[in-house]
Amino acid sequence: MDDLLPKWVAVEVAAHDDYTAALLPEEAVALTDRTVESRRREYTAGRTCARRALERLGVRGRAVPTGGNRAPVWPHGTTGSITHTAGYCAAAVARRSDVRAVGIDAERRTVLPANLHRMICLPEEIAWFEQRRDEDWWPAVHFSAKEVVYKLWSPIVGTWLDFLDARLTIDPEAGEFEARIEPKRLADSPGAPSVFRGRFHVAPDLVRSAGYITASDLTP
Ligand SMILES: CC(C)(COP(=O)(O)OP(=O)(O)OC[C@H]1O[C@@H](n2cnc3c(N)ncnc32)[C@H](O)[C@@H]1OP(=O)(O)O)[C@@H](O)C(=O)NCCC(=O)NCCS
Repeated sequence: MDDLLPKWVAVEVAAHDDYTAALLPEEAVALTDRTVESRRREYTAGRTCARRALERLGVRGRAVPTGGNRAPVWPHGTTGSITHTAGYCAAAVARRSDVRAVGIDAERRTVLPANLHRMICLPEEIAWFEQRRDEDWWPAVHFSAKEVVYKLWSPIVGTWLDFLDARLTIDPEAGEFEARIEPKRLADSPGAPSVFRGRFHVAPDLVRSAGYITASDLTP
């Protein structure tokens, strides 16, 4: 994931033992006796990666609990993002002096069913990837990039954002995306960023996306 982000973002990808590492008490409260094993493992790997990334910024021994909106609560002066999918987990963390929000997402490269396309993509976006039918990963790239947009929007604006509230443009050669928030959504979100940019990478089995928002991105 560090290939998609600037050097000042500390990125950690989970290794085998991270899925069974110890949690700090403030983190462990997010899990109960009823939590299924796969969820316990991904949550543990995410927190372990997050704390290791924080250590690289000089923040040691601090917990990363779960907030009311399910987002991680980052230690004072830091922000970040966690993603997990089958066989892959990563965390990215940065200092708030460098960045207002970081978003990362990883998805298995599966062919998304057509009925899902209409739920996550605007007609222009569907038309774009229907012209590229031989490259069947573009719906998954849209999905992943839009999850990044939500992970950037949520900590800054603090509200829900629907998949159809963002209009995505993809530059396949550069591996970059740009998401413009629909005007009607911006009208009820004063101060929200109108544009989110990020990068993506498509591997045979995995789609990864990442982006960040700096203070200057928020200046009107
Ligand atoms: C929250 C969401 C983005 C997570 O994405 P996902 O692909 O399902 O799962 P990922 O593994 O990539 O990410 C899960 C992590 O996201 C983080 N997360 C959850 N809610 C979050 C929020 N509101 N803001 C930021 N990060 C959040 C958590 O760290 C979570 O892992 P954890 O529970 O182990 O801590 C997704 O479940 C969701 O609700 N999407 C709908 C909203 C959306 O994407 N809109 C598109 C707008 S264009």
